[in-house]
This record gives sequence, C-alpha cells and structure tokens, in this order.
Amino acid sequence: MSDMSGKVVLITGASKGIGAEAAREFVRAGAKVALLARSRAPIADLAGELGSDTALAIPCDVSRYWEMQSAVEATVEAFGALDILINNAGIIDPIADLSAVDPDAWSFAVDVNLKGVFHGMRAALPVMMSRGGGTIITVSSGAASRPVEGWSQYCAAKAGAAMLTRQADLECRGRGIRAMGLSPGTVATDMQREIKASGVNAVSRLDWSDHIPADWPAKALVWMAGPAGNDWLGEEVSLRDDTIRRAVGLVA
Ligand SMILES: NC(=O)c1ccc[n+]([C@@H]2O[C@H](COP(=O)([O-])OP(=O)(O)OC[C@H]3O[C@@H](n4cnc5c(N)ncnc54)[C@H](OP(=O)(O)O)[C@@H]3O)[C@@H](O)[C@H]2O)c1
Repeated sequence: MSDMSGKVVLITGASKGIGAEAAREFVRAGAKVALLARSRAPIADLAGELGSDTALAIPCDVSRYWEMQSAVEATVEAFGALDILINNAGIIDPIADLSAVDPDAWSFAVDVNLKGVFHGMRAALPVMMSRGGGTIITVSSGAASRPVEGWSQYCAAKAGAAMLTRQADLECRGRGIRAMGLSPGTVATDMQREIKASGVNAVSRLDWSDHIPADWPAKALVWMAGPAGNDWLGEEVSLRDDTIRRAVGLVA
C-alpha cells in the first residue's frame, strides 16, 4: 500500500459506499481526511470512527460551488494543506428514457455528477498549485464512454467529467497537478441497489455477486494517489483490468 503519512485528502461522497471505504483506506495508509456529503450523521459517525485528529466531517452539497470552496478552506484550516482530492460524489437518479425524463431532475444530476467535479477541481486547484502541486482523482464509469439505456444524465455527465480530468492534466500537469480517473466497474453499494430496483437495462439484471466490494476501488484510489499514479496522468484506470487488480494487490 502507498504510504500516505502526512497527506491531507478531501473525499466527496464520503457518507457511504466507495467514498466511506476510501476514507478508511486513506487513514489506514496514514493520511488525514476531510469527509464531505450532504448527510451529516453518517460523516460525523465516520469521523468519530476514524478519530478527531485524523478526520473532519464537512457537510457539503457538491452541486453548490460556494459549499465546495468553504469545504476546501475548512480542510486547509484544520489540517494545514490539501494534497489529494477524490471527486467521488455521484447519483444515478433519474433513471428514465431520454424522451420522458424529468428535466429538472436531469439538470440537478448533471449539477452533481459533472459540475460537482468541476467545483472540486476549481476550488482545489489554486490551493494545490500554490503549494507546489497535488493529486485529483475523479471516480469515473464505463458510462463515460458508452450510452446505457435510461442513464442519459449519468452517461453525459460522466463523459464530461472524464474530459475535465484530461483538461486538468493538459492545463495543470506543468504546475504539479496529477489528474486521473478511476473506472471501478460495478461495485456493491447503494447505487447498485437503486439500479437493481429500477429494472431498467442490463446492469440492473446483474447478479449481486457480479459486483466488487467497495474496498477494492478504495484501495485502488490509495494506490493511484501514490507513485503508481504517475503512469496514468490524464488517463483512466480501469479496475476491470486484471493487471490493475494484481498491481493494487486485490487478486493474486
Ligand atoms: N457502484 C457502482 O457500481 C459504480 C460504478 C461506477 C462508478 N461509480 C461511481 O462511484 C461513485 C460513488 O458511488 P457509490 O457506488 O459509492 O454510491 P453511493 O453508495 O450511492 O454513494 C454516493 C455518495 O455520494 C454522495 N452524494 C450524492 N450527491 C451528493 C451531493 N450533491 N453532494 C455531496 N455528496 C453527494 C452521497 O452522500 P449524500 O447522499 O449524503 O450526499 C454518498 O456519500 C459515484 O461517482 C458513482 O458514479 C459507482
């Protein structure tokens, strides 16, 4: 596992699923973590579990820039730095045909899944670059590169977020920024429960045992935040790839 001692990590969507497991893995590797989500109780509980010197719970809706900016400021104030941003917050709803989906719900989902990633980058980049650099990993999806029935907002937003990773790499690599994406494959979280309940498309019909556990992408994020990430700047790591699974230490 990469040594994260002395590193400060801000994780969006840390109340459950991949984000909560990522917080546990980063702390296990020695980091301090800022835990962001809209739900206050779960991030407060997780901060309690991880320890008050190590974890800070910050209620934040990533769709609102000013909340993200305040969260970055609170992180730097509490821990003195911001080294790693994990853009993980995401929603799958609304799941509906493009011809019938509710426009307001569609728009809000893009505010979270695409603009939320922009907000994270926009708030973190000046802080990181003023301190010599940092790492920004955005949790992507196979949906970033192919259409999936009923998921027009999710596919369009994830495609846009993947472009933001490439954009951040193009503009900021020379100023010390390492920007990457992680496409985890399907993961056993509440998001997959919502997908299964929808009954729409082939992903909803997967067997639960087809999904990987949330600590797999969490461990991959720690691996990417370390020196291994240097081979992936501006690109996406796919956790469906056996070579990557072996490199992270998930399979023999
Ligand atoms: N599960 C999969 O199979 C899968 C596959 C590919 C990619 N992904 C991606 O992985 C990431 C994490 O998903 P997950 O599977 O762990 O889902 P999850 O269990 O549903 O967790 C989603 C997290 O995002 C947070 N969130 C949602 N809207 C937010 C907002 N407006 N502001 C701040 N936080 C917000 C949620 O907290 P609150 O509701 O409390 O705000 C929660 O902590 C997402 O980007 C997802 O697209 C998942």
